[in-house]
Amino acid sequence: MSLQQYLDTHKERFLEELLDLLRIPSVSADPAFKDDVAKTAEFVKDKLVQAGADNVEICKTKGHPIVYGEKIIDSSLPTVLVYGHYDVQPPDPLDLWESGPFDPVIKKTKLHPEGAIYARGSCDDKGQAYMHIKAFEGMLATDSLPCNIKFMIEGEEEVGSVHLGQFCEENKEKLACDVILVSDTSIIANDTPSITVGLRGLSYIEVEVTGPNRDLHSGVYGGAVANPINVLAKMIASLQDENNHITIPGFYDDVLVVSDDERKQMNKAPFSLDDYKNDLDIGDVHGEKGYTTLERTSIRPTLDCNGIWGGYIGDGAKTVLPSKAYAKISMRLVPNQSSDKITELFQKHFENTAPASVKVKVSPHHGGEAAVTPTDTPEYQAAYKAMEKTFGKAPIPARSGGSIPIVALFEKVLGVKTVLMGFGLNSDAIHSPNEHYGLFNYYKGIETIPYFFQYYRELKK
Ligand code: BES
Ligand code: MN
Ligand code: MN
Repeated sequence: MSLQQYLDTHKERFLEELLDLLRIPSVSADPAFKDDVAKTAEFVKDKLVQAGADNVEICKTKGHPIVYGEKIIDSSLPTVLVYGHYDVQPPDPLDLWESGPFDPVIKKTKLHPEGAIYARGSCDDKGQAYMHIKAFEGMLATDSLPCNIKFMIEGEEEVGSVHLGQFCEENKEKLACDVILVSDTSIIANDTPSITVGLRGLSYIEVEVTGPNRDLHSGVYGGAVANPINVLAKMIASLQDENNHITIPGFYDDVLVVSDDERKQMNKAPFSLDDYKNDLDIGDVHGEKGYTTLERTSIRPTLDCNGIWGGYIGDGAKTVLPSKAYAKISMRLVPNQSSDKITELFQKHFENTAPASVKVKVSPHHGGEAAVTPTDTPEYQAAYKAMEKTFGKAPIPARSGGSIPIVALFEKVLGVKTVLMGFGLNSDAIHSPNEHYGLFNYYKGIETIPYFFQYYRELKK
């Protein structure tokens, strides 16, 4: 049987298995789901074993486990390490889901006329990671695996891959490979394939602003004592100027300037501002002056408030001048900016600009560095040819605004480059209610991956 025949014959089962995987709520951020996360690792392990991988194991960490497996067919052949994550973002707000986040259903949409799987993790990243296990199963079953393969599927990506760096340090030999292959990003559209050549870094901070030592009556004290919510709102607003430039001193110092030529090139990628606005139901876009939407979401650093709370938010009105206010703030970073340095600059600036009427506490969360991948490498060329083959169209190199901090770490610790061959769409609502993943995309991924292996073996020589 040819590989294509094998994939066609087992199509339905490939989907059923993914749906089973999506039913386990592997929310890494919430300790209440710890057992489910462990169950998901077991599921992935079993599927790797069934597909024919050797030395499959669940590697314990101080947090959630990492699933490892391999098939070494000939040590003289190149080795591809497949990285993915089986953990998912929390599903809330639950009431905005049209079906249960862990009760996958298939629905047709305008962008997914063949149907899309609705479930948390369908696209990010269970669906995309599972494509690799099925492609591997197919290659092995039809005796057409062209390279050695290693799998490392982790359970903490959505909480910053906190233990993966140490795992890589301690297992350099086990993880030795020629390239890392990741499907955890998107393509421009189903008729416009693209390969991700850049990811942004991240600095994530939580701030606490304290005014008076207790909640106060807003009539008795209001007007005379600083309200920490008012102060925090002003402080956040002042982090950007009228051109939406970030005002933190030194913030842009290390930003690599992208050449006019490269900017011209990247703006040639198909993009409709009207479709973009319609999809989001917004009257206009917003962002740093002098840059296009494509640039604002890829080559420029940004600052966003992710959450803000404090005071009374229950029913009705309670007149209160609260003692405390909080916010979570993220900054997306670009190549050459250091996450630690930016976190420090933020902290200093926030402390320096706080009025004497409040105290501020700044607590850094996880962060990570940006990454760029070159296009003149065998791995990029292999991904390019594979996509060209299965989409019938040459893929476009595109930088993404998202972050996968482990990519920079792989290069630092293992000395290995990553190729980002993802198959999601930006409109698939990852991290949002009603996340979905197209059946077209799932099967296209399973079909394309074996070509990557074939071309990589040819080009790597
Ligand atoms: N798969 C995403 C990153 C992504 C999404 C890259 C779309 C490109 C296009 C990943 O799971 C993710 O969500 N990363 C986090 C960072 C992490 C440290 C929590 C992110 O980008 O917010
Ligand atoms: Mn992901
Ligand atoms: Mn994610």
